[in-house]
This record gives sequence, structure tokens and C-alpha cells, in this order.
Amino acid sequence: MRNNPWVVLAACTVSMVCTVAIAAPLVAARSADAVIAGAQASSAPASAAAQEPAGLKDAKASDCFACHAVDHKVVGPAYDEVARRYAGKGNAAVDKLVKKVIDGGSGNWGSIAMTPHPDLGKQKARTIVEWILSLKPSAGASAVAKSSAQTSGKTYTYKTEDGKAVKVDFQVFLPGQDTKVTNDVFTGYEQFNAYCNRCHGDDAVGGAYAAPDLRHSLEGGMTYQQFIDTAMAGRESRGMPSWAGFFTPEQIRDIYDYVKARSVGLVPEGRPASAQD
Ligand code: HEC
Ligand code: HEC
Repeated sequence: MRNNPWVVLAACTVSMVCTVAIAAPLVAARSADAVIAGAQASSAPASAAAQEPAGLKDAKASDCFACHAVDHKVVGPAYDEVARRYAGKGNAAVDKLVKKVIDGGSGNWGSIAMTPHPDLGKQKARTIVEWILSLKPSAGASAVAKSSAQTSGKTYTYKTEDGKAVKVDFQVFLPGQDTKVTNDVFTGYEQFNAYCNRCHGDDAVGGAYAAPDLRHSLEGGMTYQQFIDTAMAGRESRGMPSWAGFFTPEQIRDIYDYVKARSVGLVPEGRPASAQD
């Protein structure tokens, strides 16, 4: 699932606000499809839409599924885990969760903060929270905290230009090639240089303002999951925007692959060669 938002963006290039507003429901619908077969926010036939609980519909129309799935952790906890934790706690729990969704914040599941949703409105937030709490925990779901964009466990070894062998857990180059990168890495390059370069520097060479050189972040031990979590949740108070609702975790994974390949010295500055070259 590595669809690209460009189809959407092309229709609406005037402002960032505009593209976000249009991209969000599509992104949400796509991630939600994994767990709710056949029910699409924008294109579902009226009958299917009618059977969809209102809370689910509202969650899809907002950016909730950018960070949550029903049965596994993405950036935020699985919704059936949330239902399990607050089962039988009554109205006080509903009120507390409605406030949390609107205000955002961290601390109950980890140190990553949920982004605030001030425009959602109390009524909608309540409808969504009541839908979440109505979910039945799926058998064994809590045992697997798998991310939709988890790595395969396979490793690949490549040689840098100066002959050093480096090991990574994703494919950087096309099979049998040592300069042409995979479509994922190339897409990561394009997205980075369209959205992240403004602060983190062209070709990930280091940032302006307070934005760090992300190659150094990875060299310093930042993990794949931490990278994705930070990119999705952002750190608004420190100038790092949240990309949830704009990028899917899979799309951030492409950006991670590109920055990682840069940080270990496999991909030089500038446009890398791709399958199309
Ligand atoms: C940027 C990522 C992100 C988005 C977007 C997001 N969440 Fe969250 N959500 C999180 C994280 C991270 C947590 C865990 C917060 C914590 O540890 O207290 C969380 C926690 C929750 C919880 C449990 C709160 C608690 O205190 O136990 C609920 C309920 C929830 N989210 C609902 C929603 C709904 C509804 C939406 C859409 C309107 C949404 N989330 C959008 C990341 C996100
Ligand atoms: C408007 C400027 C801006 C843009 C655009 C931006 N960032 Fe950031 N980013 C920042 C700042 C500032 C920080 C440092 C925040 C802090 O001090 O904790 C940061 C931090 C990060 C970190 C954590 C690094 C670390 O060492 O802790 C990651 C990962 C990251 N950004 C990824 C991205 C990605 C991926 C994109 C593009 C999709 C992006 N950023 C776009 C400003 C930006």
C-alpha cells in the first residue's frame, strides 16, 4: 500500500491548507480499509455507508486513522486496546477521553503525544469515543503490537563508494544495481525534497532554524519507530509539524528509507538514479 497523494495534490496546488483538507479523508479511508473491508469514506455505495456506525464515519473523516488502527498499534494505541482499558468505567471515562481527543497529549500509553483536535467539536468527539469503546477486543491482538509499516527482519549489505560494507534492513538499490535506487527510496527522495527540505535542508544535509540534520539523528541511535512517531505526531511547540492526515506511515517509511540510506553513505547528495533512468 504505497499510493501516492499526487493525484489529489495536482487538483489543488494553491495552498497547503487546501491539499491537507483534501488528502486527509483519502488517507483515512485507505488505512481504515485494512480493518473494515469494503467501507470507503468517499466512494462507498449509500447502502454500505448507511450500515457504518456514525462514530466510524466521523473517525474516517478526521485524521484518526493516520495514527490509529482498530486491532494494532500504529503511532497511537489500537482502538480495541483502548476499549479494553476503559471497559466498564462508564461516563467518566467517556468524558475524559473526549477531552483528551480535543486537547491532545501524552502519558497514558507512552511519551508520544496525540495531536489536538480543537475543530472536531465535542459532539463528534463523543460519537467517535463511544464507537471506540463499543469495540470488542480481538483475540490475541494485545500480544502483537505490530505496526502496519513494520520491517521484514531481512537485512541487505551494500558497499559505500569508499569500500565500506554497511548493513540495512530494507532494499536500497534495485537487484543487481549499485546506483539505481528502489522506487521506495526514490519516492522518499522526492517527498523529502518537497516537504521536509524547507527545514531539514535539501537532500537531508542539515537544517535551518532549529531543525536537526536527520542523518545525525539516525546516526545518534534514533530508531525507525521513533522517526515515524515523531514525523506523524510532530512537536508543534518546537516547530516540527505533525504530518498525520497528510502522509500515511507507509509514506513516511519511504522518507525514512531515503534519509537512512543517506546517513550510512549509500545515496549521495542530489537526485539518485531510479528504475526510470
Ligand atoms: C498524530 C497521531 C494521532 C492522531 C492523528 C490521533 N491520535 Fe489518538 N492517540 C495518539 C497517541 C500517540 C495516543 C497515546 C497518548 C497517550 O499516551 O496518552 C493516542 C491516544 C488516543 C486515545 C486514548 C487516550 C487515553 O488517554 O487513553 C483515544 C481515545 C484516541 N487516541 C482517539 C483518537 C481520535 C478519535 C482521533 C481522531 C479525531 C485520534 N485519536 C487521532 C496519536 C494520534
Ligand atoms: C517547518 C519546519 C519543519 C518541517 C517542514 C519538517 N520538520 Fe522535522 N523538525 C523540525 C524541527 C524544528 C525539529 C526539532 C524539534 C525539537 O527540537 O525537538 C524537527 C525534528 C524532526 C525529527 C526528530 C529528530 C530528532 O533528532 O529528534 C524528525 C524525525 C523529523 N523532524 C522528521 C521530519 C520529516 C520526515 C519531515 C517531512 C515530512 C519534516 N520533519 C519536516 C522542523 C520541521
